[in-house]
Amino acid sequence: MITWLQDRYGTADVVHLIDRTVPHPGAGEVLIQMGAVGLNSADVRIMRGEPLLVRLAFGLRRPKTPVPGRDVAGTIIEEGEGVELFAVGDRVVGELSTAGGLAEYVIASTDRLVPVPDEVDDLTAAALPMAGGTAWQALDAAGVTAGSRVLVLGAGGGVGTYAVRLAVQRGAEVHALCSARAIEAVSGLGAASVADRAAGLDGLPPNSFDAVLDLGGRAPLAALQRLVREGGTVVGISVGENRVGPVGRMLASALRSIGSRRRIRPLTATAKPEITGQLLALAASGDLVPVIDRIYPLDDAGAALTRIDGGGVVGKVLVRAARADGD
Ligand SMILES: NC(=O)c1ccc[n+]([C@@H]2O[C@H](COP(=O)([O-])OP(=O)(O)OC[C@H]3O[C@@H](n4cnc5c(N)ncnc54)[C@H](OP(=O)(O)O)[C@@H]3O)[C@@H](O)[C@H]2O)c1
Repeated sequence: MITWLQDRYGTADVVHLIDRTVPHPGAGEVLIQMGAVGLNSADVRIMRGEPLLVRLAFGLRRPKTPVPGRDVAGTIIEEGEGVELFAVGDRVVGELSTAGGLAEYVIASTDRLVPVPDEVDDLTAAALPMAGGTAWQALDAAGVTAGSRVLVLGAGGGVGTYAVRLAVQRGAEVHALCSARAIEAVSGLGAASVADRAAGLDGLPPNSFDAVLDLGGRAPLAALQRLVREGGTVVGISVGENRVGPVGRMLASALRSIGSRRRIRPLTATAKPEITGQLLALAASGDLVPVIDRIYPLDDAGAALTRIDGGGVVGKVLVRAARADGD
């Protein structure tokens, strides 16, 4: 089978295609014939090993799991010992704990998997887990419900487009700021307003939002805090893209929240199959349609990683099983 592999940290050039034998699943695992993989900015951070904190979790010198790709959808073709909840032929999706998705066949632990409804194709399913799950957990962290007034800053990427759509689904009044290239796509998600984030935050009314979701991690915390009303919450989904780095940003968020009625909560989202299940149900009913930036064949997945690394994606970058020649 063909698989992408990286044996050191770096740009997409370090990820290369190899041929290897198809693995067999161990206890509690299944072998999936990959149908589609959803890539996330997390895949690129792990590929690069940046920020350096990433290497503490994923391997000091090289990635412990050398095959990138965490969000995988496909069909089970072999079961390991003790697998009861799934059977050969089932279509499943999940956010894998140790990546490994960019390959024709993928081993997955069943506790990460969710069945895919017939109405949902593999590409749609693979677009959901990490980005949709992060947006969902951010909305929960901010307590977004019907009637909440929500600002999504940096709404055009994978997590951002879901944050807008899922907040609208909850009945919130959503205001989105995104890069100019994403305005058209974000405008289709049901937000009350969509504007170019290049205009900055100064023109926005202070004390007016119940929740601000920050996808950029660059805006001054004081400016974000100023936008929420008393009792409102800023959720820092991205914390790393600034001078002080992730730890500094988290520390500053904690300090600014002490004694404040406008809390800043840095988010650490985790894989939650039950949320993936809810996202699939929304996709099956047509209420959640992922925004797709581009779809690459498996043998061109290096270009997909480069695409994310270059910035400026609108929605999700996906990889499909077929090779470029259609096989
Ligand atoms: N906390 C967690 O657990 C968690 C989980 C997943 C992802 N994340 C973080 O969330 C961010 C988005 O992830 P993703 O996978 O959706 O990445 P992505 O698809 O590559 O999207 C990048 C996002 O960053 C935004 N952005 C870029 N420059 C910005 C700026 N100067 N100001 C405001 N927004 C800016 C973009 O908004 P525009 O459309 O406006 O350009 C876009 O939404 C990443 O920083 C990622 O590390 C955090």
